[in-house]
Amino acid sequence: MTLSYLVKKEAPYVYIHGSGCSKNIWIHQISEVGGYGIDLPGHGGSPDDENISSVEDYAKHVVDFIKTKIGKGYVIGHSLGGAVAQMTYLLSRDCVKGIVLVGSGARLRVLPEILWGFKNNFLSTAHKSIDFLFYKGFNEKEVIKGILDDILDCGSEICFRDFNACDKFDLLEKYKNKEIEINVPMLCIVGNKDVLTPPKYARFFGDVLGAKVEIIKDAGHMVMLEKPKEVNRVLIDFLT
Ligand code: COA
Repeated sequence: MTLSYLVKKEAPYVYIHGSGCSKNIWIHQISEVGGYGIDLPGHGGSPDDENISSVEDYAKHVVDFIKTKIGKGYVIGHSLGGAVAQMTYLLSRDCVKGIVLVGSGARLRVLPEILWGFKNNFLSTAHKSIDFLFYKGFNEKEVIKGILDDILDCGSEICFRDFNACDKFDLLEKYKNKEIEINVPMLCIVGNKDVLTPPKYARFFGDVLGAKVEIIKDAGHMVMLEKPKEVNRVLIDFLT
């Protein structure tokens, strides 16, 4: 399958969005830092693959994309996309130079109410979920509406599939007991007000895997949209 992607400046970086989102969340990074923003199957402009049910299933498509487009590069993933980035590395270490996780974690349990809501009460859950995504100080209405539109475009089935894949994703113990090691440079970026994937999840990678951890002030889960200048500076420092 050919995934839909956006590139403005060629660079060996692949940006992977999170649950119910699209490549649009990375617009500031694609424009300034460079690289390819992709739509996972069933999101944005990419056709769906109905066999997908897990993070690993999504990661197989990312591996194919990297091999076809750039050969080898950095995977930069947000939330579910961060889980997909980890799995991309574990499936195909040869094609990953480094990993950047933005608002993500080694385990991504989802509140049962959110999971239930995306399946059974989609519209109301989609609207409510926006309140958890951004820090209350962020007021750019067009940006917030863009995310809501992405979620509504994905629809109930894809959103439920994404959050369910997050809920099942759990490498925490395997990292802790060194059953899994990451032998490429790793950076974790998180907003200090992120309530969905709190800074603790990023610090775990610092403590257990020696990842570089950057905590961005006054930002929530959508830190790459809320504080693009700060995120881009940290990314450029790490990638170049
Ligand atoms: N990295 C490091 N530690 C983690 C972790 C991660 N990715 N995920 C969980 N933990 C820790 C928790 O902090 C907790 O530690 P503690 O006992 O010292 O407090 C422990 O592991 C158990 O956590 P968890 O498995 O998440 O179970 P829980 O019963 O504490 O909570 C939820 C379950 C769903 C309530 C909780 O995960 C949550 O609030 N999640 C955020 C909301 C959400 O839905 N996020 C969506 C992510 S896409």
